[in-house]
Amino acid sequence: MNTLARAILLLLPFAAPSMWAQSTTPAKAEADPSISEIAANFTNYTRITKDPVYVNMELAILCRGASKEEVEAARTKFGPHANAAILIYMNQSAASAFGTNATPYPVGSVIVKQKKVLGYRENGKWVNEVNNGVGGMVKRPSGYDPEHGDWEYFYFEDPKKIQSGRIASCVQCHAAAKEKDHVFGTWRETKN
Ligand code: HEC
Repeated sequence: MNTLARAILLLLPFAAPSMWAQSTTPAKAEADPSISEIAANFTNYTRITKDPVYVNMELAILCRGASKEEVEAARTKFGPHANAAILIYMNQSAASAFGTNATPYPVGSVIVKQKKVLGYRENGKWVNEVNNGVGGMVKRPSGYDPEHGDWEYFYFEDPKKIQSGRIASCVQCHAAAKEKDHVFGTWRETKN
């Protein structure tokens, strides 16, 4: 396990069960989905994480390159119990490959990570929960970015303002998961 992955596992103090929960999602023509289609429909994909997986806030927001000030601001806003969680969705091509550990993922595979900031706990429940950005990766036909697994990345908080492409920060960090076709999947390994 590389240093990054180890650091992440150590920083998962509120790890929740993240069983691979297969549900049935109708197959769609998914050979070359557009980013805007994905942004509009990803919540209909198979949700791979049964429950939100709690991740260290600082790491969770690294996915959009947040500044330290933003982290501090979030902590000030949400208090000492501030925490962040992710939900992972996959379209059918990605879910089948993930379920059988078949890499590389087939062209047209889509993996989406929805981030939430969980406010605080009251009567055993998180309240003040807000969605806090959606990051995704789409397997494009061979030649799109061969050095980096031909994944196109996208990120948005507002679906009308989506960044997408070979986004350098995403590409570089995900290179640490190269042996798993750039998919970390660390949320799968977390246990109570
Ligand atoms: C500093 C490293 C880093 C950067 C930068 C980064 N990621 Fe990630 N990403 C991770 C880690 C680590 C995970 C594993 C889950 C977690 O801890 O959130 C992950 C998980 C994901 C996943 C779920 C699939 C998987 O690999 O487990 C998607 C989708 C994703 N990131 C998209 C993006 C996008 C889009 C960007 C750029 C806007 C980005 N990431 C930038 C480290 C990074």
